[in-house]
Amino acid sequence: MQKFIVTGGTPLRGEVRIAGAKNAVLKLMAASVLTSEPCLLRNVPRISDVMIMRETMTDIGFDVRRVGADALRITATDADWLFVPLEAAAKMRASFILLGPLLARFGRVIISNPGGDRIGRRPVDLHVAAMESLGARVEYKNGYYFAQAPSGLRGGHIEFPYVTVMGTENAVLAAVLARGSTVIDNAAQEPEVDDLIAMLCAMGARIERVAPHRLEIKGVESLGGAEHAVMGDRLEAGTFAIAAAVTGGDVTVRGVAPEHLGAFLEVLDCMGVPVEILPPSETDAPGLRVRAAGTYAPVAVETQPYPGFATDLQAPTAVLMTQADGVSTIHETIYEDRLDYTTELGKMGAVIEVLDERHCQIAGPTALHGREVEIADLRAGATLVLAALAASETSVISGVEHVDRGYEQIESKLVALGAQIHRIDA
Ligand code: UD1
Repeated sequence: MQKFIVTGGTPLRGEVRIAGAKNAVLKLMAASVLTSEPCLLRNVPRISDVMIMRETMTDIGFDVRRVGADALRITATDADWLFVPLEAAAKMRASFILLGPLLARFGRVIISNPGGDRIGRRPVDLHVAAMESLGARVEYKNGYYFAQAPSGLRGGHIEFPYVTVMGTENAVLAAVLARGSTVIDNAAQEPEVDDLIAMLCAMGARIERVAPHRLEIKGVESLGGAEHAVMGDRLEAGTFAIAAAVTGGDVTVRGVAPEHLGAFLEVLDCMGVPVEILPPSETDAPGLRVRAAGTYAPVAVETQPYPGFATDLQAPTAVLMTQADGVSTIHETIYEDRLDYTTELGKMGAVIEVLDERHCQIAGPTALHGREVEIADLRAGATLVLAALAASETSVISGVEHVDRGYEQIESKLVALGAQIHRIDA
């Protein structure tokens, strides 16, 4: 087990390059399974979730290899077996994204019920119902879904009762090879979904977002290989933006599309954090420059599916709220237990009242103090690192492996901005 030792109080300054998005790359890897031709993904982040996905796909019999510093070549010529074991699913919920493409390409798959982050119940009933709408038969036995469509999937109408990101993606990945047309209503609008659609269209799929919440897919007989650069990680960018604001710093974040951060930037604006949008130039990727201000205003945040405020930035934003002058509020609408991090943040001096499993109030400004704290999941991990950077004294943070799931070399990037953080083997 590894720990971060963080001595806070240093204003972060400089420029940071954002990696490819975790929530996009895993789905793009899954898309590559839809063709026997090679696919090349660029801007692939070096995070442990990519390694888990790579191992899972390799175990199935696909060839997944690193090419150069940041690319992956995936060739899914044939499968040795159509089985995603509990071992993979327990490590990463996103392994369930293989359901749609394996079913569409090979007509059957046995896939474990996923584990993933300890946030909420996070069922997969909507994924399963979507496959059934496309003509698949899915049975659940002993922790595994046995899905089959022996004579192929057929187009259908899928209407999600509420927005599900991976549910939408699984449906799209299955429908592209189905016979006939599919309409997906109440489809997720996250930029990562559109990144997946862009790659699938480059592979020959026919997908159109005919209205913000509606996708129309015309099934094609087969797909070909494609080359695709993974979009920049808006959640990593948001984390570094908060790091600048809470440490009294000045950080330029490059490699992210500012328009993907709309609702988050509105919150920063309400709080009085100066942000400059940096358009792309001949030499630079687009990004943001975030500077600290002397005081911040309190704010009310409610998480929502995109284009609303991202639930994945809720916990990191709480750290900024501890520095606002007054009472801020959080309403978490997506997950029922995504406020667990507040206990650890409280140990560091944050004044947080949890009203129920979805609501809390944060009073500020409060000085944060270095403490021994433990990370419970990925976004809570980023949150505690941010709090430790803002705190006086030294913090010892355990559970670092959760952060490695989604942040590429977080400590090296922070050190390059002047932070005092290092990793130890415990
Ligand atoms: C994705 C992101 C995750 C983010 C979340 C919401 C990935 C790998 N992960 O997760 O970082 O926090 O979107 O933006 O992209 N639900 C059901 N049944 C289902 C599916 C979902 O009840 O079959 C519920 C979930 O429990 C949750 C809500 O729907 O309450 C939204 O979840 P969903 O959008 O599916 O999240 P993920 O796609 O798993």
